Amino acid sequence: MPAQICIFDAYGTLFDVAAAARIAAAEPGCGALAAVWPKLAEDWRRKQLEYSWLRAIMGQHVDFWTVTQDALDWALDASGLADAAVHARLLALYWTLGAYAEVPAMLAALKARGFQTAILSNGSPEMLQAAAASAGITDHLDDILSVESVGVFKPDARVYGLVTKRFACTPDRVLFVTSNGWDAAGAADYGFRTAWVNRAGQPVDRLPGKPQHILADLTTIPELAAS
Ligand code: LAC
Repeated sequence: MPAQICIFDAYGTLFDVAAAARIAAAEPGCGALAAVWPKLAEDWRRKQLEYSWLRAIMGQHVDFWTVTQDALDWALDASGLADAAVHARLLALYWTLGAYAEVPAMLAALKARGFQTAILSNGSPEMLQAAAASAGITDHLDDILSVESVGVFKPDARVYGLVTKRFACTPDRVLFVTSNGWDAAGAADYGFRTAWVNRAGQPVDRLPGKPQHILADLTTIPELAAS
């Protein structure tokens, strides 16, 4: 039986998380970023995820916007770039990250085939609404689900449970799509069908739950969901 619902991770899957540092590095006033922006983007993302997991273990939840700001503070410090204007510009850009090129057509094709679609993300509701609006994909989504409803980050099973509750479905009717190997593991362990979008060609994570499908980008998701 094919899936009925396609759920997407947001950051790194639909939205290009490196875009903020890449765009800022090309702007006047942010010249110091030019030489270091790839490392800065990588540090920022890694610390953002580490802080989400560590806070979950510590029982010290704050929303993803706070985690994102704390991670950027660390990443700028690590690059010797603790500059208030650069910090502010990078954070502003995070609200309008672009979607990967194939995203709008892929979502439109899913809707044309009758699938329900939603985002399930660590992001706060405000961050996710802003990013979806900026990328022009809000109309292709039936819902935007944020971990803030349960107050804990992925890969806690309560987060994946938001989907089965919202769509009143069993996990096997859901195709969960993510670029994060650990998120694919968590979703597979929960019982979702999973597609891992492995743009960077990384090895499979050694965790419970393995991705069912491994893709280079999102182009073939409509066919995969229908199969
Ligand atoms: C998200 C992070 C994990 O959007 O990328 O949930």
